[in-house]
Amino acid sequence: MRHVPVLLQQVLEGLRISDLKSQSVYVDCNLGDGGHTEAVIEKTKGDITVIGFDLDSEAIERAKEHIQKRVGEEQKKDSSFKTPKLHFVNTNFRHFKKSLREIEEVTTKPIHPDAILFDLGISSYEIDESGRGFSFRKEEPLHMTFGTPASHAFTAYDIVNTWDEENIADIIYGYGEDTYARRIAKAIVEAREKVTKDGEVVGTKIKTTTELAEIVKKAYPSFKRHGRIHPATKTFQALRIAVNDELRSIEEAVPQAFESLAPGGRLAVISFHSLEDRIIKRYFKEKIDGGEAMVVTKKPIVPEDSEIEANPRSRSSKLRIIQKI
Ligand SMILES: C[S@@+](CC[C@H](N)C(=O)[O-])C[C@H]1O[C@@H](n2cnc3c(N)ncnc32)[C@H](O)[C@@H]1O
Repeated sequence: MRHVPVLLQQVLEGLRISDLKSQSVYVDCNLGDGGHTEAVIEKTKGDITVIGFDLDSEAIERAKEHIQKRVGEEQKKDSSFKTPKLHFVNTNFRHFKKSLREIEEVTTKPIHPDAILFDLGISSYEIDESGRGFSFRKEEPLHMTFGTPASHAFTAYDIVNTWDEENIADIIYGYGEDTYARRIAKAIVEAREKVTKDGEVVGTKIKTTTELAEIVKKAYPSFKRHGRIHPATKTFQALRIAVNDELRSIEEAVPQAFESLAPGGRLAVISFHSLEDRIIKRYFKEKIDGGEAMVVTKKPIVPEDSEIEANPRSRSSKLRIIQKI
């Protein structure tokens, strides 16, 4: 199923997309299935330059297809609808400036975006259909990589099967904020080290998402195993963040994006958990206090009840926007 863009109207309004001119540049740092970008193109009647990043090459291919189809449909209805200038960048957004410089070499014009969006995290497609082990509801190999497993230093499989107990616990506590992190880490290490009758330790591997989810569930106290949220949720979030070095990527990318903005340009970030939001909140405050930016969203914008009902995955989203002075 195609990813449903969250807080879409709020993003379009907050980034003042309808005020963009034909020379304007919009950067989507998390192209995903292209939902936000498609709406931006529609709003500007195609008269815009778009730069779309995604670490996942399959996401780029899907977004390209959706966008081209949409542009074709709009042009059939309205002959004044332009063909947008599109640049797709299949890399981590932590290479923001370098990637813009590479595009500048081709276009021979300096690029100062007027609007930049980060829609952090993972797409519904990646969770439900990528087969890369992001969901514990399906039996899949434990990769959890946004790009191909080969393009990452390690996968979730490597963490649970080779890291020591303390490091696993630190990851689950630090990136999953799970208070049962130590119990879970102990259970993971025990599961991979089976002791035979003669006291010999033999290694077994934790290979799939469902195996890991079961180990985590059993590590939880029994009265906590059957709540609304599956006990493995936080562990899976933690492993994904670690494998993709998500927090450091955000810390590196957001300042580069802000520095690249045109004066008066806007930067919007949608985050999905407190660890991401904390980084954004702190950085935006620094820019506002330093007189380099003005606040657009005094409080983070959160979805209406109707959006949460229609798209439960929007539940934890928070949108913050600043404008460069
Ligand atoms: C929430 S989805 C974006 C959905 C998109 N806004 C839409 O409406 O379809 C996040 C996307 O960001 C990508 N991603 C995550 N971290 C990234 C990073 N550090 N650099 C580039 N892309 C990243 C994921 O592969 C995923 O496709």
